[in-house]
Amino acid sequence: MQMSTEEVLQEVATEVATCAKCNLCKGRTKAVPGEGRSSAKILFIGEGPGYNEDRQGRPFVGPAGQFLDELLTSINLRRTDVFITNVVKCRPPNNRDPLPEEIQACNNYLDRQIAAIKPQVIVTLGRYSMAKFFGSEKISSIHGRARKVNGYLCIAMYHPAAGLHQASLKDTIREDFKKIPQIIAEAERVVAETPVKQAQAAPTPKEPPQQLSLF
Ligand code: URA
Ligand code: SF4
Repeated sequence: MQMSTEEVLQEVATEVATCAKCNLCKGRTKAVPGEGRSSAKILFIGEGPGYNEDRQGRPFVGPAGQFLDELLTSINLRRTDVFITNVVKCRPPNNRDPLPEEIQACNNYLDRQIAAIKPQVIVTLGRYSMAKFFGSEKISSIHGRARKVNGYLCIAMYHPAAGLHQASLKDTIREDFKKIPQIIAEAERVVAETPVKQAQAAPTPKEPPQQLSLF
Protein backbone atom coordinates (compact mmCIF):
# COMPACT_ATOMS: atom_id res chain seq x y z
CA MET A 1 0.00 0.00 0.00
CA GLN A 2 1.27 3.40 -0.89
CA MET A 3 1.81 5.73 2.04
CA SER A 4 0.03 9.08 2.23
CA THR A 5 2.01 12.34 2.27
CA GLU A 6 1.42 12.66 6.02
CA GLU A 7 2.64 9.13 6.61
CA VAL A 8 5.86 9.70 4.66
CA LEU A 9 6.52 12.99 6.49
CA GLN A 10 5.86 11.32 9.83
CA GLU A 11 8.11 8.40 8.94
CA VAL A 12 10.95 10.76 7.95
CA ALA A 13 10.52 12.75 11.19
CA THR A 14 10.64 9.57 13.26
CA GLU A 15 13.78 8.30 11.53
CA VAL A 16 15.53 11.67 11.74
CA ALA A 17 14.87 11.89 15.50
CA THR A 18 17.23 8.98 16.18
CA CYS A 19 19.33 9.05 13.00
CA ALA A 20 23.05 8.36 13.33
CA LYS A 21 23.98 8.34 9.63
CA CYS A 22 26.48 11.17 10.03
CA ASN A 23 28.57 12.82 12.76
CA LEU A 24 26.10 15.67 13.24
CA CYS A 25 24.06 13.31 15.43
CA LYS A 26 26.73 13.63 18.12
CA GLY A 27 26.25 17.30 18.86
CA ARG A 28 22.53 17.70 18.39
CA THR A 29 19.99 18.38 21.11
CA LYS A 30 17.01 17.72 18.85
CA ALA A 31 16.96 16.84 15.19
CA VAL A 32 14.90 19.25 13.08
CA PRO A 33 13.00 17.30 10.41
CA GLY A 34 11.04 20.29 9.14
CA GLU A 35 7.38 21.19 9.49
CA GLY A 36 4.35 22.68 7.82
CA ARG A 37 1.45 21.71 5.63
CA SER A 38 1.67 18.33 3.95
CA SER A 39 -0.22 19.76 0.95
CA ALA A 40 1.96 22.88 0.78
CA LYS A 41 2.38 24.48 -2.64
CA ILE A 42 5.69 25.95 -1.56
CA LEU A 43 8.61 24.12 0.00
CA PHE A 44 11.40 26.17 1.56
CA ILE A 45 14.76 24.48 1.97
CA GLY A 46 17.31 26.12 4.25
CA GLU A 47 20.75 25.02 5.28
CA GLY A 48 20.68 23.44 8.71
CA PRO A 49 19.42 24.02 12.25
CA GLY A 50 21.10 26.74 14.31
CA TYR A 51 21.18 27.16 18.09
CA ASN A 52 17.47 27.88 18.58
CA GLU A 53 16.31 25.27 16.09
CA ASP A 54 18.47 22.61 17.76
CA ARG A 55 16.91 23.37 21.13
CA GLN A 56 13.33 23.45 19.90
CA GLY A 57 13.44 20.82 17.16
CA ARG A 58 11.78 23.29 14.77
CA PRO A 59 13.14 25.02 11.65
CA PHE A 60 13.76 28.78 11.39
CA VAL A 61 12.72 29.84 14.88
CA GLY A 62 15.65 32.23 15.55
CA PRO A 63 16.36 35.68 14.06
CA ALA A 64 16.49 34.36 10.47
CA GLY A 65 13.14 32.70 11.15
CA GLN A 66 11.62 35.99 12.29
CA PHE A 67 12.65 37.55 9.00
CA LEU A 68 11.24 34.54 7.13
CA ASP A 69 7.94 35.03 8.97
CA GLU A 70 7.91 38.67 7.89
CA LEU A 71 8.59 37.63 4.30
CA LEU A 72 5.78 35.08 4.38
CA THR A 73 3.38 37.67 5.80
CA SER A 74 4.32 40.03 2.96
CA ILE A 75 2.79 37.56 0.50
CA ASN A 76 -0.16 36.70 2.74
CA LEU A 77 1.14 33.34 3.86
CA ARG A 78 1.65 31.78 7.24
CA ARG A 79 4.08 29.13 8.28
CA THR A 80 1.23 26.65 8.42
CA ASP A 81 0.53 27.21 4.69
CA VAL A 82 4.00 26.16 3.58
CA PHE A 83 6.55 23.48 4.41
CA ILE A 84 9.96 24.46 5.76
CA THR A 85 12.93 22.15 6.05
CA ASN A 86 16.72 22.06 5.72
CA VAL A 87 19.44 20.27 3.79
CA VAL A 88 20.79 18.76 7.02
CA LYS A 89 18.44 17.97 9.86
CA CYS A 90 20.94 18.25 12.72
CA ARG A 91 22.89 21.32 13.83
CA PRO A 92 26.50 21.56 12.70
CA PRO A 93 28.81 22.41 15.65
CA ASN A 94 29.12 26.18 16.11
CA ASN A 95 26.93 26.65 13.03
CA ARG A 96 29.76 25.67 10.71
CA ASP A 97 28.90 24.83 7.11
CA PRO A 98 27.61 21.30 6.59
CA LEU A 99 30.21 18.97 5.04
CA PRO A 100 29.60 17.25 1.71
CA GLU A 101 29.38 13.84 3.41
CA GLU A 102 26.81 15.18 5.91
CA ILE A 103 24.68 16.63 3.12
CA GLN A 104 24.97 13.33 1.26
CA ALA A 105 24.03 11.29 4.34
CA CYS A 106 20.94 13.43 4.93
CA ASN A 107 19.87 13.79 1.31
CA ASN A 108 17.53 10.82 1.31
CA TYR A 109 15.30 12.42 3.97
CA LEU A 110 15.00 15.59 1.90
CA ASP A 111 14.27 13.65 -1.28
CA ARG A 112 11.51 11.70 0.45
CA GLN A 113 9.99 14.93 1.79
CA ILE A 114 10.04 16.51 -1.68
CA ALA A 115 8.55 13.42 -3.33
CA ALA A 116 5.78 13.22 -0.72
CA ILE A 117 4.82 16.91 -0.76
CA LYS A 118 5.23 17.39 -4.54
CA PRO A 119 5.34 21.17 -4.12
CA GLN A 120 4.46 23.49 -6.96
CA VAL A 121 7.45 25.60 -6.12
CA ILE A 122 10.71 24.88 -4.29
CA VAL A 123 12.47 27.90 -2.80
CA THR A 124 16.12 27.33 -1.91
CA LEU A 125 17.45 29.49 0.92
CA GLY A 126 21.21 29.67 0.87
CA ARG A 127 24.09 27.96 -0.90
CA TYR A 128 23.61 24.33 -0.01
CA SER A 129 20.02 23.90 -1.05
CA MET A 130 20.76 26.00 -4.13
CA ALA A 131 23.61 23.64 -5.07
CA LYS A 132 21.20 20.69 -5.00
CA PHE A 133 19.06 22.22 -7.76
CA PHE A 134 21.28 24.73 -9.53
CA GLY A 135 24.74 23.18 -9.32
CA SER A 136 27.55 25.69 -9.16
CA GLU A 137 25.66 28.71 -10.46
CA LYS A 138 26.06 31.99 -8.69
CA ILE A 139 23.30 33.28 -6.44
CA SER A 140 24.00 36.86 -7.58
CA SER A 141 22.99 35.96 -11.13
CA ILE A 142 20.08 33.53 -10.57
CA HIS A 143 18.25 34.71 -7.43
CA GLY A 144 14.53 35.31 -7.75
CA ARG A 145 14.15 33.57 -11.10
CA ALA A 146 12.09 30.43 -11.59
CA ARG A 147 13.48 27.41 -13.42
CA LYS A 148 12.23 23.93 -13.95
CA VAL A 149 14.70 21.44 -12.47
CA ASN A 150 13.95 17.71 -12.37
CA GLY A 151 10.26 18.45 -12.85
CA TYR A 152 10.11 21.00 -10.05
CA LEU A 153 9.79 24.74 -10.41
CA CYS A 154 12.69 26.08 -8.34
CA ILE A 155 13.65 29.54 -7.22
CA ALA A 156 16.96 30.33 -5.55
CA MET A 157 16.97 33.05 -2.92
CA TYR A 158 19.56 34.53 -0.63
CA HIS A 159 19.46 33.06 2.86
CA PRO A 160 17.37 35.26 5.19
CA ALA A 161 20.29 35.35 7.64
CA ALA A 162 22.36 37.12 4.97
CA GLY A 163 19.74 39.86 4.89
CA LEU A 164 20.10 40.38 8.63
CA HIS A 165 23.69 41.47 8.17
CA GLN A 166 23.33 43.45 4.96
CA ALA A 167 20.53 45.94 4.39
CA SER A 168 20.78 45.92 0.58
CA LEU A 169 20.36 42.13 0.52
CA LYS A 170 17.35 42.44 2.79
CA ASP A 171 15.62 44.52 0.12
CA THR A 172 16.65 42.07 -2.59
CA ILE A 173 15.18 39.18 -0.60
CA ARG A 174 11.96 41.12 -0.03
CA GLU A 175 11.66 41.82 -3.75
CA ASP A 176 12.41 38.21 -4.70
CA PHE A 177 9.79 36.97 -2.25
CA LYS A 178 7.10 39.17 -3.77
CA LYS A 179 7.58 37.30 -7.06
CA ILE A 180 6.45 33.99 -5.56
CA PRO A 181 2.67 34.51 -5.98
CA GLN A 182 3.13 35.47 -9.66
CA ILE A 183 5.31 32.45 -10.28
CA ILE A 184 2.73 30.13 -8.71
CA ALA A 185 -0.07 31.72 -10.73
CA GLU A 186 1.96 31.25 -13.90
CA ALA A 187 2.71 27.62 -13.02
CA GLU A 188 -1.01 26.99 -12.42
CA ARG A 189 -1.88 28.57 -15.73
CA VAL A 190 0.60 26.35 -17.54
CA VAL A 191 -0.81 23.23 -15.84
CA ALA A 192 -4.39 24.30 -16.65
CA GLU A 193 -3.49 24.70 -20.32
CA THR A 194 -1.62 21.40 -20.55
CA PRO A 195 -3.66 18.81 -22.48
CA VAL A 196 -4.92 15.97 -20.28
CA LYS A 197 -2.86 13.34 -22.09
CA GLN A 198 0.36 15.16 -21.32
CA ALA A 199 -0.73 15.85 -17.78
CA GLN A 200 -1.19 12.12 -17.19
CA ALA A 201 2.23 11.40 -18.57
CA ALA A 202 3.75 14.04 -16.31
CA PRO A 203 4.38 12.19 -12.98
CA THR A 204 7.92 10.93 -12.26
CA PRO A 205 9.66 11.91 -15.48
CA LYS A 206 13.01 10.15 -15.58
CA GLU A 207 14.79 12.72 -17.69
CA PRO A 208 18.33 13.77 -16.75
CA PRO A 209 18.68 16.98 -14.73
CA GLN A 210 17.77 19.84 -17.00
CA GLN A 211 17.34 23.48 -16.28
CA LEU A 212 14.92 25.25 -18.55
CA SER A 213 14.55 28.93 -18.10
CA LEU A 214 10.84 29.48 -17.78
CA PHE A 215 10.37 33.18 -17.31
N1 URA B 1 19.02 28.73 9.13
C1 URA B 1 18.74 27.66 8.36
O1 URA B 1 19.28 27.48 7.28
N2 URA B 1 17.83 26.82 8.79
C2 URA B 1 17.18 26.97 9.95
O2 URA B 1 16.35 26.13 10.26
C3 URA B 1 17.49 28.09 10.74
C4 URA B 1 18.42 28.95 10.31
FE1 SF4 C 1 21.08 11.79 10.22
FE2 SF4 C 1 20.84 13.98 8.76
FE3 SF4 C 1 21.17 14.18 11.37
FE4 SF4 C 1 23.19 13.36 9.84
S1 SF4 C 1 22.20 15.38 9.81
S2 SF4 C 1 22.54 12.43 11.78
S3 SF4 C 1 22.10 12.19 8.28
S4 SF4 C 1 19.41 13.27 10.34
